[in-house]
Formats: sequence, C-alpha cells, structure tokens
Amino acid sequence: MGGNEDAGKRAAAKRAVAEVQDGMLLGLGTGTTATFVIDELGRRVREEGLKVTGVPSSVRTAEQARAAGIPLIELTGVPPLDLTIDGADEVDPHGDLIKGGGGALLREKLVAVASREVLIVCDDRKRRPFLGAFPLPVVVVPFGWSSTRHRLERFGRPVSLRTKDGVPFVTDDGLYILDVAFGRIDDPATLEREIRGIVGVVEVGLFIGLAHRVLYGFPDGRVEEWARGGG
Ligand code: 5RP
Repeated sequence: MGGNEDAGKRAAAKRAVAEVQDGMLLGLGTGTTATFVIDELGRRVREEGLKVTGVPSSVRTAEQARAAGIPLIELTGVPPLDLTIDGADEVDPHGDLIKGGGGALLREKLVAVASREVLIVCDDRKRRPFLGAFPLPVVVVPFGWSSTRHRLERFGRPVSLRTKDGVPFVTDDGLYILDVAFGRIDDPATLEREIRGIVGVVEVGLFIGLAHRVLYGFPDGRVEEWARGGG
C-alpha cells in the first residue's frame, strides 16, 4: 500500500462525498477508503454546515465519525438510508464485490441492504476481471469454528482462521472470520448461497447485486464511474 493507492482512494472518496446533500441519512463503510470518506464528510459538516446523519458499519468507523463531528444513529432500517458509501476489496465487471478485508462485512452488508443506493469507492487496482484473487472472508460463529472450517474445506480450497497478534481476530459482533483462497470464482451468486447454507456460517463477503455505482480513483486524481444498468 503506498501513496499512489491512497491518492486513488482519496480521489474516489472526495467525488462520492461531493454528492452528499443536506438531510441525508448515510451508511458509513469501514476501511482505509472509508476513512477518507469520513474525513471529507466531516470537513463538509464543519466547514459548510452540511447536515447529515450517519449510520456506522463498525466501532472503528463510529469513533472516527464522532470525532469528525458527524451525528450518528444506529441502524433501524426505518426510514431506509438514502445512500451508503463504502469501499471494497475486489470489484468485477458486473459490479459484484468481495468485501471484508477490514473484518466489518456483516455490518456492512446490513447497512447496504437497508440503503436506497450503495456507492462503492475504491482505488482502480481493485477492479478485476473476476472475483476470488482476494481470499473470501466468511464470518462464522466461534463455537465449533473448526468444524465449520472442515465443511468449508469441501470446496477444495485452503481455509484459514483470521488472526491478529497471534489470537483469533474477533469482529464487532464477537464472531470469527475464515478466509477462503478460491483463486477464481466463476459463479459468485451460487457460491454465496452455498456458503450461507453451511451451519455455523453467519455471512459471506460476496456482495452480489448490491452496488448501484462504483467510483474508481486513479493516482492522478481522475475518477471513473461504473453504474448498474449503465451503457
Ligand atoms: C471492510 C471492507 C473494506 O471496504 C475493504 O476491506 C476495503 O478496504 P480498504 O478501503 O482499506 O482497501 O470490506 O470490511
């Protein structure tokens, strides 16, 4: 990760926040790109008097947003969120995503499905011809996690328990993450259904049909947009 990648992330984040309007209820993603979103949103709140309310997708994001002066509420789903801005680990040509590198995929998906519009912001290098080079995060219940891992291994790919400082990484909801190195996923929608059907699995980091638009940022500050159903 370097300055170039950050410049792309920052460009996409700035473009996304420029679309935010007074009175919006906003889903706030998690990760380094989302950090740039929250920085810029906080700047608009403080300097321009922009009035928005955020729904954070992680404890980390809540802390950053609160410090930036963005008013927050918890997710209720009523009314629906106007817009969610979030990052991604991979994006394919259909706008389908792998998310969860930052470990917040469960809350991110809950926020995304409660939103009228989901806008993904990322560095151009996240754009892939197919999903799966990035290990697929799967959120599992800690009880019996290694038994759940055996069931996931039936896909014939390596499965590893995510750790941090030598102990299992624990999500904001007290869950574990198993990362599955698929390499190439030919049918993400079917795979999502199959993995979610495994006992012990809570959620999977495949976001199929959820992104309405994607903003790809380049190191020189250019931003390209992909839109679902667009030409
Ligand atoms: C967190 C996520 C992030 O959106 C994803 O990992 C991208 O992160 P970054 O913006 O740091 O590259 O899904 O759960």
